Amino acid sequence: MPASQVRSSRWQSPATGLTQQLTFAHQSGKPVVCLEPKPGPRAIEDDDFPFEAFSDIAEAESWRKEINRPTTHIHKWWAQRLGSVFRALTIGAFAPSGANVLDLSYKAVRIPNGTVLDPFMGSGTTLAEAVKLGARAIGRDINPVAHFLVKCALSVHDRKAILETYRAIERDVADEIRSYYRVTLPNGRVAEVLYIFWVKTVDCPSCQTPVDLFASQIFARHAYPKKVPQAQAICPRCGAINAVHVEARDVQCSSCRQSFDPNSGPAKGQRATCPSCAHSFLIAKTIRATAKPPAHRMYAKLVLMPDGTKAYQPITDEDRELFLIANHRLNNRKNAYPVVAIEPGYNTNQALGYNYRHWHEMFNARQLLCLSILAERIREIPDPVLRDLFTCLFSGTLEFNNMFASYKGEGTGAVRHMFAHHILKPERVPLEANLWGTPKSSGSFSTMFESRVRRALDYADDPFELRLPSSKGGKSDKVYGLSEKIGAPVAETYSAFKKGACVYLSCGDSGSTDLPDASVDVVLTDPPFFDNVHYSQLADFFHVWQRYILGADGCRESNTTRSDREVQNADEGGFTNRLAAVWREAHRALKDDGLLAFTYHHSRAEGWRCVLQALMEAGFGISAVHPIKAEMSVAMPKLQAKEPIDLDIILVCRKRARMKTHCWNGDLWGTVAPSAQEQADRMRNAGRRLSRNDVRIIVMAQLLRHISRSPTLGVALHLLDIANGETEALIDCIHTAAG
Ligand SMILES: C[S@@+](CC[C@H](N)C(=O)[O-])C[C@H]1O[C@@H](n2cnc3c(N)ncnc32)[C@H](O)[C@@H]1O
Ligand SMILES: [Zn+2]
Ligand SMILES: [Zn+2]
Repeated sequence: MPASQVRSSRWQSPATGLTQQLTFAHQSGKPVVCLEPKPGPRAIEDDDFPFEAFSDIAEAESWRKEINRPTTHIHKWWAQRLGSVFRALTIGAFAPSGANVLDLSYKAVRIPNGTVLDPFMGSGTTLAEAVKLGARAIGRDINPVAHFLVKCALSVHDRKAILETYRAIERDVADEIRSYYRVTLPNGRVAEVLYIFWVKTVDCPSCQTPVDLFASQIFARHAYPKKVPQAQAICPRCGAINAVHVEARDVQCSSCRQSFDPNSGPAKGQRATCPSCAHSFLIAKTIRATAKPPAHRMYAKLVLMPDGTKAYQPITDEDRELFLIANHRLNNRKNAYPVVAIEPGYNTNQALGYNYRHWHEMFNARQLLCLSILAERIREIPDPVLRDLFTCLFSGTLEFNNMFASYKGEGTGAVRHMFAHHILKPERVPLEANLWGTPKSSGSFSTMFESRVRRALDYADDPFELRLPSSKGGKSDKVYGLSEKIGAPVAETYSAFKKGACVYLSCGDSGSTDLPDASVDVVLTDPPFFDNVHYSQLADFFHVWQRYILGADGCRESNTTRSDREVQNADEGGFTNRLAAVWREAHRALKDDGLLAFTYHHSRAEGWRCVLQALMEAGFGISAVHPIKAEMSVAMPKLQAKEPIDLDIILVCRKRARMKTHCWNGDLWGTVAPSAQEQADRMRNAGRRLSRNDVRIIVMAQLLRHISRSPTLGVALHLLDIANGETEALIDCIHTAAG
């Protein structure tokens, strides 16, 4: 914003009555509130930071996050955080102590002279919010898939050119792709096939008969079976499709008159029973012994009838013939798809155990053919920004168009994507969707163009915030006109950024960057958790295709996105060291008065110890902590599922050199307990039920905050290590007090 448009004035906070030195300006005739990076305490460090109100907003956002924050949902990423929380954090990190951050969240706030860094940017939640607030944003991620999607999301987009490119792709390949999802109706008309239903088959080790791995003969049910109890079951004898009651245990097939139990099938848990010889065998072991990925059989399809209704139909010779044609055409294509081995790992071992040795084996031949046709067309797009965007869209559709995806049923988005579990779990009854799609499809290239790209373009032009209804039962409003448009040229080097770009993105280890010392006002982020989940092992599924289309550019020399420097380690020491390296670099790049704020949660003591150690080793102390509604995360082991963690903690940190230290001498719990109790009470008074693990994270965060002020790291860790008994007692006390 040109300085001439900015004028300084005293600002009277409507809610607190506090007079603050904020700057007003006018942009395109609209008043905006300018926040400046300044020394001194910030609003995010205030004890009364309104985390309850932001939790409610975050919750409303989380119900439809792809609609409420489309910019960061143009492609899959994991552990995505909520935009409204990061908007509040950004404003709170720049607004002076005492400012009403909730009120400011619905004002046109601008931070033209503030620079925000997210060293673990993931899908770019922080950066999108920083851009909307007119701040300068620096993002880095070690994973090329994350870097690529943020680059696509934040780059300048020419709506007209995007629509023209889409139409050109449609003109060139849509009919060809759709021709593999067609069926001739009895009246001779041709209809489109929406979905094809497959089942894995395993040859019985005793009599060699192929056994369908159905756990139930019902293959399609309604998402709300109480409301719509009709389901579709496949007759185990003749393969006819029967409409049955979802709970029926004994029905007679309308075609062969044989009775069967629709709610049972040859597969039960880890075992299957051969219907021919009654031999019972272990599924995974039998598949492993074949040294090939499992075979599949198609058994039904969902047809979009000319009158717009949908009909389940059995598979016919025409369907099998069409699949063989696709297979044949695939075999005639050169270099039709990326051939890359799947490496062992926590997230890939289960797929490897089913003999999936290469990423392309997760697709059937027709899916590979259609993807190959589309990929080749996208590769030809001359403009690099457009080519990237359509590659990103293509990559997004992969998640729904592979043999690990399944059917969610009627009454909901039909395709359950492959990452519903955090491991790559082989699906016994996969669903093949029509890749180009119809207006009635889900997860297809054409529908995702509408639901992801077009929606992101609309949001980028005119971003909005959700405002909750003033009365219970009302609807949230969308408040427009508060933000800058999203979409600016993205700098790829710091020097280009320094010359005036608003966004600088890079791909690499944030333990070392090219940022000058003291060049950043606020570091705002969401680090990986201390657990077993390696996103890079999953992201490789997308990476191999993105690389196949775009070639090995600077970020994509390797076949894999795995890296030794990824902060993700099941070992405490390894995790702490890598995290500390990133915090050290953040400390170097941060101005002396700057803030580091990040969200975190963990159910185990080691998770908190690592974070404290990494922070203090890097020279940070914790100045404030606030609980906030979180997305459910994978850092929660299964056994904690009964006590789910619904909250994140916002940890606000400063350079320890600038903080007063304190020698705790019997006064620690007298300080920790009331602050934790108060935060738990505030959340409960706002109507939130806190699980024991929610209380735990509130207590742990307060404990960490106070002991981070200890004179040395050694003293702080000692205090943490001896705190166990008191911590548990305090958690009990706060948890049970609320009944
Ligand atoms: C919890 S995710 C961040 C998610 C993000 N807040 C969002 O809303 O999408 C953590 C990110 O840190 C990245 N990461 C892990 N180690 C890294 C490192 N050494 N340097 C940079 N990024 C790293 C991962 O690739 C992952 O994207
Ligand atoms: Zn048998
Ligand atoms: Zn039958």
